[in-house]
Amino acid sequence: MLTASPAGPLVIALRPPQGDTGVTLSLVLPTYNEGRNLEPLVQQITGVLGQAIAPAYELIVVDDDSPDRTWETALALTATYPQLRVVRRQGERGLSSAVIRGWQVAQGDVLGVIDADLQHPPEVLVKLLRAVETGADLAVASRHVDGGGVSEWSFARRFLSRGAQTLGLVILPRVVGRVSDPMSGYFMVKRAAIADVEMNPAGYKILLEVIGRGRIHDIAEVGYVFQERVAGESKVTWRQYVDYLRHLVRLRSRGRLARLREKFPIDRFLRFGVVGFSGLFVDYTIFFLLFSQVGLGLTTSNILSAETAIINNFIWNDAWTFADFAQQQLGWPARLKRFLKFNLICLAGLFLNTLLVNIFFNVFSINAYLAKFLAIAIVTLWNFWVNLKLSWRVTEPPK
Ligand code: GDD
Ligand code: MN
Repeated sequence: MLTASPAGPLVIALRPPQGDTGVTLSLVLPTYNEGRNLEPLVQQITGVLGQAIAPAYELIVVDDDSPDRTWETALALTATYPQLRVVRRQGERGLSSAVIRGWQVAQGDVLGVIDADLQHPPEVLVKLLRAVETGADLAVASRHVDGGGVSEWSFARRFLSRGAQTLGLVILPRVVGRVSDPMSGYFMVKRAAIADVEMNPAGYKILLEVIGRGRIHDIAEVGYVFQERVAGESKVTWRQYVDYLRHLVRLRSRGRLARLREKFPIDRFLRFGVVGFSGLFVDYTIFFLLFSQVGLGLTTSNILSAETAIINNFIWNDAWTFADFAQQQLGWPARLKRFLKFNLICLAGLFLNTLLVNIFFNVFSINAYLAKFLAIAIVTLWNFWVNLKLSWRVTEPPK
């Protein structure tokens, strides 16, 4: 047995074909609490493949340390089924990454995957294999071609399934549109088509990743009827739908988003903006208290309330927006230094703000409120950028 821990990056590339390993097909069986399904499944698969290509295949169970100890069941089965290999992952979870981890230790030139809950009928394996052997780069078992279907799905479930597919067609037509069942988790692909391709296994649907990033020219589809689950339960939750959406967007942007993030930290800027917004409320509240309730002068009230807002913003930015940087510069002297810089930059921002409002209003005759809005937007960007580069800049490497 192989015990894999989350070693290596999330982005995984597969090795090219190995030459003659004696194994043609490597079929991954991802499992999470499938203890009761495993034995009948392995029995059926070996029955089917035994006739088709024995002994040139291997079955790789990739179990995510299931509470029902599926890995143990699998291990016990290796005594009867020498083609069976077991990977027990600890500290890493997820269907797609399980499949890729399985392929990483696979020896075959054809890489496949089948659900381990008996919902994917094993007889189809032979057709998939033949399709790849006769030239397809990818063979997909599909519910939506001749001979395919679902057994007893409710209207709501069919609707959701088709809705997800339609959404995929809109966002990612050139990937999702290439097969009739892009959600399928039952397929085979030539190793050569995905070797050395970086794949990101964050989504639930590994097939999207294979079609989206692999060198896939010919695709074959084979119909199958999605069986009802008898034992165990599905792992699909609403999270998978969110993951699916993000996956589509990520594949569509193909790293463009990541590159933009590198140049401009959007998440951080949004947090900075939220904090700035909270500062507005602090500013107005304190101003109201000092000016209207206590009766201090306008300028005094304004300076004190602005400074309180600056302190408020600093605390939140230090604890949230730039928390990771603050973590690397611990201690009160360092914090005080950050605070003083932040304060200075905010003051400079106030001057800039006043200057801009005047220019927009007096020189360009822009409406006063619009001028103020533009000035705030520009100064927020400026504040963010300078603070990012000066106040929270990490000067010493972490120890
Ligand atoms: N290792 C591992 N880790 N396996 C997992 C995980 C996980 O986090 N989550 C699910 N699995 C395994 C399950 O044990 C099962 O063998 C298989 O992946 C499919 O999971 P299900 O939860 O049964 O999914 P489903 O039946 O709702 O959805 C399936 O239906 C589609 C219909 O075509 C998915 O498998 C799709 O891939 C499939 O195409
Ligand atoms: Mn299932």
